[in-house]
Amino acid sequence: MSSSRKSITDLVLHLHPKRVSAETLRLTLSWGLGGMATVLAGMLFITGVMLLLAYQPTIDQAYESVLVLTREIPFGRWVRNIHHWSANLLAAVAVLHMVRVVLTGGFGPGRRLNWVIGLVLLVLLLAANFTGYLLPWDQLAYWAVTICTSMLGYIPLCGHWLETLFRGGDEIGPATLANFFVLHAALLPGLMLILSLWHFWLVRRAGGLVRRKEDGPSDAVPTSPNLLMREAAVGLSLIAFVLVLAMVADAPLLEQANPGMSPNPAKAPWYFQGFQELLLHLHPSFAIFVWPLLAFLALICLPFARGTALTPGVWFGSHQGRLLAILAILAGAGLALSAILLDGLLLFSTPVNAANTWIARGLFPTVALIVLMAGAYVVLVRKLGYSRAEAVMAGVLAVLAVLIVCTVVGVWFRGPEMLLSWPWAQTGA
Ligand code: HEM
Repeated sequence: MSSSRKSITDLVLHLHPKRVSAETLRLTLSWGLGGMATVLAGMLFITGVMLLLAYQPTIDQAYESVLVLTREIPFGRWVRNIHHWSANLLAAVAVLHMVRVVLTGGFGPGRRLNWVIGLVLLVLLLAANFTGYLLPWDQLAYWAVTICTSMLGYIPLCGHWLETLFRGGDEIGPATLANFFVLHAALLPGLMLILSLWHFWLVRRAGGLVRRKEDGPSDAVPTSPNLLMREAAVGLSLIAFVLVLAMVADAPLLEQANPGMSPNPAKAPWYFQGFQELLLHLHPSFAIFVWPLLAFLALICLPFARGTALTPGVWFGSHQGRLLAILAILAGAGLALSAILLDGLLLFSTPVNAANTWIARGLFPTVALIVLMAGAYVVLVRKLGYSRAEAVMAGVLAVLAVLIVCTVVGVWFRGPEMLLSWPWAQTGA
């Protein structure tokens, strides 16, 4: 082996044990999603540093500096596109990685803390994505950030304070850009780096990925080349994919931000459009605060309740678990779609923020949903003989399906005035 090749292998081996279980080498166990998230985060970091060489974080110069970057600096547009696509793919890959962890029983004993760290990483990476959204200071950025920071205002008690804190005042302006720039380019990447290293170390301390016979006889094989070659194959394919995608698809850049002219519809970034969709149907405090908080708390507590993790290393826990998973996804998606259509066709004329909607569009749907989920859990476990873990998995997948349907409707099926419309019929205003 050449000395340079040996140095690279030695460096990568520092992140791994010398030997790994052969069972965990199956691509179908993890689909390499955690590794893909790592590669995307690396690409973000490298292209982010390159963008900093051209970007000017003031409202007079930000837009102009992005124009210069994309039109005049060699490869500037490509670097910006790589940064854009890596960030968006990372959001999707991290959610898929989380779902993989749930479906292979990856948050059981020994991995509980890592689950919580993963959730914090997810919040941080969404925040990093969102703070980067404002930096080009174009119409898309300005109005998406206006929508999202005003959503914060609906949080009970401290909402207005949070809104002012993030904006750096009452309006989106120079202070907002300065705040977002520091968060995006320094604070959030720094925190993510520290937490990621902790995350990797905890995987190693747990003895590697989840597998069927965690205490059984060891089937260990040398990490190099067995694991390293597989990681290289996944990582290099992903890098090639992003590089090509960034050549053919440009990151959006509209006209310079104009606080006096709001686009119609004004939408949040895609990863928050599920919540923007909820906002059309529920009382704002419930859409922005109560429902996301309940979901997040449930996810945090998941590993700490008894019997919530599926059989380690077995997708869906069992064959009947797989069927249940499909049913849960169909039920969640069907429920969300019917609720959206019913509300759109029958009730959309009712103003959502009127005082009486606190009960009709806040408390009532929340209690109804909790009762429905608790009822489904009892039926699955007591009457149909599913395990607690399988019932919990069904709940997580149903909620995820609701969020995905809300996001898809928000991204493609909301036109001017946020009314339901076919994507090809939307002209905007
Ligand atoms: C920036 C985001 C993230 C990165 C870079 C990352 C990276 C990784 C890597 C490299 C692994 C090793 C196994 C694999 O490839 O799947 C892993 C495992 C794990 N991750 Fe993540 N992760 C991230 C986000 C998350 C999230 C959002 C969660 C869940 C809330 C999570 C929970 C876990 C758990 C519990 C394990 C151990 C699972 C097992 O042993 O099978 N991670 N992560």
